[in-house]
Amino acid sequence: MRTKLVAGNWKMNKTFQEAEDLTAKITEAVEKLNTANVEVILCPPSPYLEMVLDLTDETHVAVGAQNINEHEFGAYTGEISAPMLSSMEVEYCIVGHSERRKFFAESDEVLALKVNSALRSAIAPIFCCGELLPEREAGNHFKVVKSQIEKALYHLEEKAFRNVVIAYEPVWAIGTGVTATPAQAQEMHAFIRQLITSKYGEMVAQDTLILYGGSCNAANAFELFSQADVDGGLIGGASLKAEEFVEIVSSAINCS
Ligand code: PGA
Repeated sequence: MRTKLVAGNWKMNKTFQEAEDLTAKITEAVEKLNTANVEVILCPPSPYLEMVLDLTDETHVAVGAQNINEHEFGAYTGEISAPMLSSMEVEYCIVGHSERRKFFAESDEVLALKVNSALRSAIAPIFCCGELLPEREAGNHFKVVKSQIEKALYHLEEKAFRNVVIAYEPVWAIGTGVTATPAQAQEMHAFIRQLITSKYGEMVAQDTLILYGGSCNAANAFELFSQADVDGGLIGGASLKAEEFVEIVSSAINCS
């Protein structure tokens, strides 16, 4: 049985004090829940990682970064690498978020290198894929997602692939308040699981966590997470409010 996973992607939000407050509130509330079947991850801006790691130490809340550079060390001013994160005991890293693809021109080829770098440092990549609105309107959404997954992940050996989490995030749903319907999410998630089956076999596909992201909130999380192939969510806006994020975690618990 797969567990559920709920990850909060804070993006470039919150002052240090606000982030401290948010972390403390979420952690305190999550500790009171039965999270045996749900992994909870906070992905704060990188200057706050140390603080979030401290506040969540020895709790059921794990920590992820929002991005890494594909190189390990060197003259890359302003960048952060996987070995740096793993030396701080960060366990996850979002790779290939659509905002990184759009604003920082990250190509599938670079994303494949970032995935490799994360895995080399024992950091689990949360690999994001998803189509733009015109691509869905043209009926190309399956083709786009297949190509993103093939280019960034298919070079991995089965053992390495087993550490990857996939997040399906239709770009038209991110930060827009327009959520994919549970049926649309399930259809794509089942498609992605089928892709994994054909590449890595049924057992690996059944173990792979596939998250949904895009205007997921406390009101729609339960229905989305109840879909057979939706294993939780990557939450943006709704992860910035402690109560709402904890409600989303509760939804994951209730349908796991
Ligand atoms: P959203 O963002 O929940 O604000 O739509 C999701 C994401 O970008 O990961």
